[in-house]
Amino acid sequence: MTAIAVSSRRCLDRRCYVSLETMPKSLSDRLLRRSRDQRKQREYQRLQARYQGLADARRFDIDWRAINFNRIAVVNLLLAHRPAMRYLEIGCDDNELFDAVIAKDKVGIDPQRGGTHRMTSDAFFALNEARYDLVFIDGLHTYPQTRRDVVNALGCVGRTGWIVLHDMWPLDWLEEHVPRISLGWTGDVWKVAFELAQSPELEFKLLKIDHGVGIVRVLKDGARLADRQAELADKRFDYFFANIADLPTLDWSAGRDWIEQHSVAMRFQP
Ligand SMILES: C[S@@+](CC[C@H](N)C(=O)[O-])C[C@H]1O[C@@H](n2cnc3c(N)ncnc32)[C@H](O)[C@@H]1O
Repeated sequence: MTAIAVSSRRCLDRRCYVSLETMPKSLSDRLLRRSRDQRKQREYQRLQARYQGLADARRFDIDWRAINFNRIAVVNLLLAHRPAMRYLEIGCDDNELFDAVIAKDKVGIDPQRGGTHRMTSDAFFALNEARYDLVFIDGLHTYPQTRRDVVNALGCVGRTGWIVLHDMWPLDWLEEHVPRISLGWTGDVWKVAFELAQSPELEFKLLKIDHGVGIVRVLKDGARLADRQAELADKRFDYFFANIADLPTLDWSAGRDWIEQHSVAMRFQP
């Protein structure tokens, strides 16, 4: 039996243990999510206390929860005009996104859980010969791995295709730190954003929603990613914080207009 501690008015603030199996799934999902959030907060406070003094105090003052659009909205908006698009997701976890995606034809890669293929993205791309119209990258959140995922995705997404990346906007040094030292982890995926922004064969926007959702419009077959590895490899959160103005960031409404403008146009292209 899976049990979870909850406080409710009926329990008069004492902790009750309830069985998740005996309640409706929507309610058990909500309770699990809330309990994970509380765990995250405690973990965050513990780490902040532990690393106080070493820590970079700068922080983006963004409450992702207050922006009611997320990566699922982005992917389904991209698919709305072309539901027959072939969808590939790298890193699926508990299928929160994968199960919500409306594409008819979808493949999900994860070495641990979720999706359709139990393997790493490197192992998948080494064997893959299929073409995709939309690739969502959300696997291992390190710069070298994410960069490799983007380069491999460009090998199977042609002109008129899209690549979407999650977790491109760390709020502070703790979320960004590699190796991972926090529960909520963006890692240094953000470094790829600076390369995407300077790739002439790609058009890139960074949406200010859901921990940063990067959207790449592929402008030609065989498009290449700019290479800034030598410069970016050892950069940390302070570089991202200081240089974010160099990135093409958009809020949700401007991002939605940009997606709609291009996805409607693409519907009429061969
Ligand atoms: C943040 S979760 C993905 C969440 C999911 N995309 C969503 O939006 O709901 C990251 C997942 O990446 C997986 N992962 C880690 N390393 C990977 C790799 N090398 N290739 C593919 N997936 C990987 C992990 O097992 C984990 O389930």
